[in-house]
Amino acid sequence: MGAADRGDAHNSLGLLDLFGDGFVRAPYSWLESLRSEAPVRYDPNTGLWLVSRYHDVRRVLLDSALFRPDNAQHAVTPLAVAALRVLARAGFTLPPALANNGSASHPGLRRVVTRFFNVRRVAAAVPAIERIAEELLGTAQKQIKTTGSCELFTSFAQILPCRVLMELLGIEGIAPITLISWSDASLELFWGRPTPERQVELASHVAEFHQWLTATVRSSTSPPDSFIAALTRHRLPDGKLLDVETAVAACFFVFIAGQSTTGQLIATVLQRALAEPGLWPRSAHEAGLAEAWVEEVLRREPPVTTWRRVTAQPVELGEVELPAGAELLLMLMGSGSDPDVFAAPELMCPHRANIRHHLAFGAGRHRCPGASLARTEAAVALRVAARHLPDLQLTESPKTPMLGLLSFRAPLSVAVEQPR
Ligand code: HEM
Repeated sequence: MGAADRGDAHNSLGLLDLFGDGFVRAPYSWLESLRSEAPVRYDPNTGLWLVSRYHDVRRVLLDSALFRPDNAQHAVTPLAVAALRVLARAGFTLPPALANNGSASHPGLRRVVTRFFNVRRVAAAVPAIERIAEELLGTAQKQIKTTGSCELFTSFAQILPCRVLMELLGIEGIAPITLISWSDASLELFWGRPTPERQVELASHVAEFHQWLTATVRSSTSPPDSFIAALTRHRLPDGKLLDVETAVAACFFVFIAGQSTTGQLIATVLQRALAEPGLWPRSAHEAGLAEAWVEEVLRREPPVTTWRRVTAQPVELGEVELPAGAELLLMLMGSGSDPDVFAAPELMCPHRANIRHHLAFGAGRHRCPGASLARTEAAVALRVAARHLPDLQLTESPKTPMLGLLSFRAPLSVAVEQPR
């Protein structure tokens, strides 16, 4: 484990830049300074109040009347007029549907999602997850045989969740790579710090995604047992059928949340497992180890690092008086390393007693309905990869490219080699 991982450097919070390389590559010492020095702190760069202690984060998540979810999908970097024009021309709107919906329509819409991702459905999907994982790893294996090395993020971690989601939701007629590029563009546009020129580029992908979703929702060609067909049959609390815009907004969020985040989790799980002495070969066969490793990665280094809420009225939080309308950034990742809850948080302990107490999937009414799927996919990915490629090792690299958005963080490359 490197110095950055131990978090033994001391940082001046005045220099904190949530998008900067220093924070993205070595977040722990910053998160520790926030927790101990300023657990509820205004960040002038983003206009958000950073909430860092586990118990404060949990309190906010559990009280969705006082801490509303309305700002969950706002663009953190204000969009330039040119990018807004691209979106407007495509008829892009994101009415409250799931993560950003604090209204009476939320529970019903959420039930449509949970029906597709409940524990029973996920358990039934394990053979499909294994089959897709084996197929993708077969290709990686061939490449390693020929060249001695391979990159497991783009060839495996990123594609597996997309293909699984397509099977589970009955999505047809689109290439996985297209869905992945649309989803990644959406994350960067709404959670990144793109320049105005880059915003236009991203907005055109997001517009294309939105138009494809709208056309798919409007056409009646989706299989009757598919997610889209279930949404179009859904009735709101007033008895009216769900409108197309909200159905599209629900799909937009599920298609992004359902694959990008899980791909990011798998990348970190593989990278950390390969870096931990002896873990890789053991996770191939030791019962429960892959699952426990995934849980520790979710606690210490989750892909969804933060989540937003907004105060409905003035409130005291962590001894700070917040006005109504204060936008909060819940530091989910930092909360998993809070020593008040997790002993020796810097250590990866697959057998720690409170292993599932982390907040990586949120909590309360909006808690991630895809948690079971994400956990299962990541554990299967680790186990199958360790079985297929037992002698793998990480390729030494001075600087792994990282995704570092406001709420999403992961290695963008897992370069591996087979010792000859
Ligand atoms: C490692 C992967 C994942 C992580 C870390 C993650 C994390 C999260 C978090 C932090 C939230 C917000 C929770 C809150 O506000 O309390 C959320 C919401 C959500 N996630 Fe996930 N997620 C992951 C995978 C998935 C998957 C696979 C799906 C779908 C299949 C999914 C669908 C959703 C949906 C629909 C919501 C909004 C729920 C609501 O507002 O009721 N997520 N997720």
